Amino acid sequence: MARVLLKNISKSWGSAVGVKQMSLDIADGEFLVLLGPSGCGKTTTMRMVAGLEDPSTGEVWIGDRCVNGLEPKDRDVAMVFQSYGLYPNMTVFENISFPLRIRGMPAAQIKPAVLKAAAQVELTDFLDRRPKELSGGQRQRVALARAIVRQPKVFLMDEPLSNLDAKLRVTMRSHIKHLHHELGVTTIYVTHDQIEAMTLADRVVVMSRAEIQQIGTPEVIYNQPANLFVAGFIGSPSMNLIAGALRDGVFEAPGVSVPGFGTQSLPDVVLGVRAEDMAVTAPEQAQIRAEVFSFELTGDSTLVMVRIGEQVVTARAGKDYRARIGDPAGFAVSAQQCHIFDGQTQNRLRLEAN
Ligand SMILES: Nc1ncnc2c1ncn2[C@@H]1O[C@H](COP(=O)(O)OP(=O)(O)OP(=O)(O)O)[C@@H](O)[C@H]1O
Ligand SMILES: [Mg+2]
Repeated sequence: MARVLLKNISKSWGSAVGVKQMSLDIADGEFLVLLGPSGCGKTTTMRMVAGLEDPSTGEVWIGDRCVNGLEPKDRDVAMVFQSYGLYPNMTVFENISFPLRIRGMPAAQIKPAVLKAAAQVELTDFLDRRPKELSGGQRQRVALARAIVRQPKVFLMDEPLSNLDAKLRVTMRSHIKHLHHELGVTTIYVTHDQIEAMTLADRVVVMSRAEIQQIGTPEVIYNQPANLFVAGFIGSPSMNLIAGALRDGVFEAPGVSVPGFGTQSLPDVVLGVRAEDMAVTAPEQAQIRAEVFSFELTGDSTLVMVRIGEQVVTARAGKDYRARIGDPAGFAVSAQQCHIFDGQTQNRLRLEAN
């Protein structure tokens, strides 16, 4: 186990930028998730930690040594990638034992280590099978077992569940979380799935366009998004973002009037509010008033959409709520549950409350 430090690392190839100046301090035993859309630099970051890519600038530290220039095999990291990379002609046992055999571990020690790792991912009954005789989730667990059998200082997992169907992903997610609890190995995990990030992480690093947008616990990322990118990326449905102005502490946009933001006046702001933080009410009691644009039954709730200018705003109502498209609708919302973002810098503003 080890602390991992990234000191101002960056990576570019000519004019192509993979990662801009990035610094991260990952605690010993922490589960850190890199989250962001396709092309934002997640894999590039992982490859620099693994030693598969040399940083253009900066240093990577694992434990108490700078590992720049060290071969991947000398870094004591184990990787699990999206493509499982299993050896098709080897049995599950042989696949899991492979990293121990190439290190020259005596056979008498290999067997108990493999049996233990296989048990931890519930593969004990499959040790004699070959990968093609396994389901996707089972193959994924072989890849996991092959990583944990080495007892590395650091796990690097790059979208390890993306080949699996939705249900298996949820099952494997809990396997991985439980394994991390048992093994306590520092883990860097890449995903573009925000639910996966929120459920697994001690801390989430939200990335966009080769840069860190915010680092925080899932709660902080969800409840105090640093900017409009994070606000829009985290949560399902994503946060409603309404462009407007603050006038004497009242947020105003067509059909919208929300008081309670101190006394400020700012001409160009964006109000952010989550669907579950609004109540669907009679229009005369509402801060947001418009016609029902659409609605969706999700089973456990009803999502009600109205249109504010070009924008669709969604509120979550009880599961028995029914609306008719075109009916007048009202959403009740209080300033305490809203965020105000600067329209220019896109950063969240801290305003004095009333
Ligand atoms: N060898 C390379 N040469 C040039 N550009 C590269 C190279 N590898 C990656 N890039 C670029 O660096 C950026 C980041 O790529 P990276 O693979 O890290 O993205 P990612 O966040 O892992 O995306 P995804 O979710 O699609 O896997 C992309 O714009 C990509 O095109
Ligand atoms: Mg990637």
